[in-house]
Amino acid sequence: MSLSTRHLLGIKDLTVDDISLILETAEQFKEVLQRPVKKVPSLRDVTIVNLFYENSTRTRFSFELAEKRLSADTINFAVSGSSAAKGETLLDTVRNILSMKVDMVVMRHSASGAPHFLAQHIPAAIINAGDGVNEHPTQGLLDAFSMRKKLGKLEGLKVAIIGDIMHSRVAMSNIYLLNKMGAKVTVCGPPTLIPKYIRESFGVEVNYNLKETLEWCDVANVLRIQLERQNQVLFSSLREYNIAYGVKRKLLDNLNKEIVVMHPGPINRGVELDSDVADSKQSIILQQVENGVAVRMAVLYLLSGRNPGNN
Ligand code: NCD
Repeated sequence: MSLSTRHLLGIKDLTVDDISLILETAEQFKEVLQRPVKKVPSLRDVTIVNLFYENSTRTRFSFELAEKRLSADTINFAVSGSSAAKGETLLDTVRNILSMKVDMVVMRHSASGAPHFLAQHIPAAIINAGDGVNEHPTQGLLDAFSMRKKLGKLEGLKVAIIGDIMHSRVAMSNIYLLNKMGAKVTVCGPPTLIPKYIRESFGVEVNYNLKETLEWCDVANVLRIQLERQNQVLFSSLREYNIAYGVKRKLLDNLNKEIVVMHPGPINRGVELDSDVADSKQSIILQQVENGVAVRMAVLYLLSGRNPGNN
């Protein structure tokens, strides 16, 4: 079995079989990560560059750890301290790095489409670690993996994505993936943070009422307000956002069921999510982070050409 694509640019381009293969392979790597010796030789002699043109904590460490657990050689690039600050173009930077015999590129960039552009110009496999407001495919995959682990299935699952849908690449990757895998998606947030034609364009339901959305769903994936991507005022204040759309203990206690709470991080505590929810046993936020390493190992392995299914 191998993937139908050479790069992971977005969930949009993956088939249902691709997604299933990545999730199954991640299950195997998850088992490896429970062993006392967590390292396997699968990517020995494969060299990977982590190109981060935008801030990251979880995603960067998760990729780096996944690469190390697979025995790959890695180099790390952060835009501050690089020649990009001296005016070098993205393509020049990457061509120079590749001339040092680098096989795979993991990249995060604030420009939507940057990894797609690179994929047209360089021979190495590219993995998108988040491009602007477009997609964050490994986050979508690790969210799906975590939901499936917790609730046993994706098909028919009712997933609410709550918050700043407009500026969230995590929302986009989740929507593509959950639609392909037969889950039901409702997006919820203030009307100014939800794209106008999302229902028609992406086949999701829209509900502006948080209480009703929570009553409907099995899983609430709560997103951060991406203030750094908003160039105009889209809601009155963070305090009022919390009153209308913050996920709170009392709201959850008043439901007649126990839903699963997720968040891709970083959390703005007291804005989209209150601490007594984030730290409760209903929340699988740290399990998402843990699962992220296994999911990224699966993606790297399947795209490396070391998978016996590849030729
Ligand atoms: C997200 C991102 O960078 O897109 N974080 C992450 O990768 N875990 C979400 C966010 O920044 O809010």
